[in-house]
Amino acid sequence: MVKEIVSVFTDVPEGIFIDATIGLGGHALAVNRNLPGKFSFFGFDRDGEMIELARENLPRDFRLRKMTYSKIPSALESESIGPVTGALFDLGLNSLQLENGGRGFSYRERSLLDLRFDRTSGKPLHKMVDKFNLSELVDILKTYGQEKNSRAIARAIIDKRPKTTDELAEIVRKIAGSRNFNKSASRVFQALRIYLNDELDEFEKALKGIVPLISKGGRIAVISYHSLEDGIVKRIFRLYSGKCQCGPGKGICECGARKIIDIKTKKPVRPGEAEVMNNPRARSARLRYAEKI
Ligand SMILES: C[S@@+](CC[C@H](N)C(=O)[O-])C[C@H]1O[C@@H](n2cnc3c(N)ncnc32)[C@H](O)[C@@H]1O
Repeated sequence: MVKEIVSVFTDVPEGIFIDATIGLGGHALAVNRNLPGKFSFFGFDRDGEMIELARENLPRDFRLRKMTYSKIPSALESESIGPVTGALFDLGLNSLQLENGGRGFSYRERSLLDLRFDRTSGKPLHKMVDKFNLSELVDILKTYGQEKNSRAIARAIIDKRPKTTDELAEIVRKIAGSRNFNKSASRVFQALRIYLNDELDEFEKALKGIVPLISKGGRIAVISYHSLEDGIVKRIFRLYSGKCQCGPGKGICECGARKIIDIKTKKPVRPGEAEVMNNPRARSARLRYAEKI
């Protein structure tokens, strides 16, 4: 959604642009090329390998840091970085991570089940898989994968304790059957990745922390690929557009709702047909953005 992203930031004031998920730098580079001189760029990624690749693709004056996005708000505050007039999250993972051997993100490739974005911290999944209990695993597959065979797949994982992508894929194939295999395997791998990297909590903290740091007239855009991510965007945007999230029965508001943004997307922007033809993974992308007031 490169064209759409460039147009989101076309009319914002000059300032700092925060790309919270720099990846290979495609979006940031497009913004820079199409809006020359408007922004100074800061790019972040939890995956140090992506930061190294982005460094090769991007101009030298882009400041790139390996950092999980929940830590960006405190980095901006402690280093007095501003005024921030553009911020972008493009969630999930990129094709290189998915297809690159050894990450364990894809059932299509044989490798150890790692599934961490940052391979220098925390434990890979193949070291955690012995510790799961059934109810915890059913919950992970149901919540993050919305997989209808969650219980059976979880039971088989507990039984076989797979350590590699193909051992896990085989478990899914036996239960889901060949016809449903691709969909079920994608959901199971996605669920385990979201769980292992604590993606939803990380994202919620990041979005909640960054919005207040954007300057007047600046914009924040999020491209999400999962309904739970999109739910967080809707909730945090509503909170900062002044809509109380406390629910019925509360006498006083405790959620911190205040009106500091205008939501620009009542409905999410979806990728055009041509983009989906070119890149089928874009099919589930939803773009929402808001402007600081
Ligand atoms: C879809 S890609 C971004 C692609 C990028 N927009 C581009 O044009 O190349 C998502 C990126 O987010 C990174 N990521 C995932 N979780 C993260 C986190 N908690 N903090 C920072 N980056 C994260 C991934 O490593 C990946 O590089």
